[in-house]
Amino acid sequence: MHPLRKMYCRTFQAALKFAIPFLPYRHPKIIGSVTGIPEVLRKKKCNSVLIVTDKGIVNLGLLKRLKKALKENHISFVVYDRTVANPTTTNVYEAVNLYHAGQCSAIIGFGGGSSLDCAKAVGVKIARPDKSLASMKGILRVRRRLPLLIAIPTTAGTGSETTIAAVITDAQTRHKYAINDFPLIPRYAVLDPQVTRSLPPFITACTGMDALTHAVEAYIGNSTTPGTRKNARMAVSLIFKNLDTAVRDGDNLEARRNMLHASYYAGCAFTKSYVGYVHAVAHSLGGAYNVPHGYANAVLLPYVLDSYGECIHKKLHELAIAAGIAKKDIPHYKGARIFIYAIQDMKKRYGIGNFIREIREEDIPKLSHYADKEANPLYPVPVLMNAHELEKFYYMLMPKKASHRARPDYRAYARKKVTAPEAKTETADKQADVPVTSGQSLSGKVEKSHE
Ligand SMILES: [Fe+2]
Repeated sequence: MHPLRKMYCRTFQAALKFAIPFLPYRHPKIIGSVTGIPEVLRKKKCNSVLIVTDKGIVNLGLLKRLKKALKENHISFVVYDRTVANPTTTNVYEAVNLYHAGQCSAIIGFGGGSSLDCAKAVGVKIARPDKSLASMKGILRVRRRLPLLIAIPTTAGTGSETTIAAVITDAQTRHKYAINDFPLIPRYAVLDPQVTRSLPPFITACTGMDALTHAVEAYIGNSTTPGTRKNARMAVSLIFKNLDTAVRDGDNLEARRNMLHASYYAGCAFTKSYVGYVHAVAHSLGGAYNVPHGYANAVLLPYVLDSYGECIHKKLHELAIAAGIAKKDIPHYKGARIFIYAIQDMKKRYGIGNFIREIREEDIPKLSHYADKEANPLYPVPVLMNAHELEKFYYMLMPKKASHRARPDYRAYARKKVTAPEAKTETADKQADVPVTSGQSLSGKVEKSHE
């Protein structure tokens, strides 16, 4: 990247970092079960509520417990279940009409990122009936309190229950845009493991890797705070301890609960400290080829971490310690190597490959341009890269283009003989030389890989 552009990016990021303590960030209060919602609604004097969800959630019967709890507490409700993936302005306007027809005073978003985003956008339109959704795209355009908003995530990964953003697609033009403002952060997040039980193993794995990417990218960026670093470490620790179990045994409620908490903590971390090039590249792939977000992140994460080099070794070592896979007294570069290898190992266990076959070479300049536009200057990444420099990640993901030089061999990397002078102990050497995770192979128990 040109030195002047670098200077511009770093100045922009420093200004945002300086502003963090003065901005009205808040964390949603956690409720442990959907059965705890009526008590909150009663306290807030809400007698009627709109539930925004999708057909899949309804067909799986996931609404039943919530409906029963509301009925038992004499709280009336209306259900909007037509939310689509990439929710549209039509979804939002239909749900708003239902909100008014049901004389509601609160909104519950129940589902994955799409339903939660739709619920947030409904709240925006209730708070700002005079303004179109499109006119509020961008940052800080809402500036008004939303009705009571409760988020019930049914995937443990997006962190949408903690963020200031709602991504909406214009039903006519198909233009996709984000509305970002602090009132969009839900007041409550319901982290109820029962609602994630039916998530298939492969989706559990990919959404869990998305949460891991949020935590890692927030942690290695330059705009962290003690709070976001703590949240990221907590998320990484929970993911390494629970994702294998949640993928292998979806009925294990403790693992499911811990993954919901991991996703929540990772969301709290990246809301303030941002993500990085993994997300920027993954978003471009999602937009062009509909590659699932969590899958694209998981494929990319080790490559992008490796490309940052030495400047993130200390931070990756800290995350490896938080994950319980490395000791404190080993050199940072070894800790970093262990962490990157462990991610590669997780991918393998979950059936997540190293390539995205949809990538066409002729699309790469455009895709890297989108990634550059998304990330620079906003994301406080450890090493700045322009569109041209980002192109390498797309080439790495193309099976035909990948070469030994472009695509690191992480197994060999993790076993590389230690020659650096700071390598002190035999224990440290041994620790880097053995496979760092011991989870049972899950191949055959997960859905077919995307690759
Ligand atoms: Fe993400």
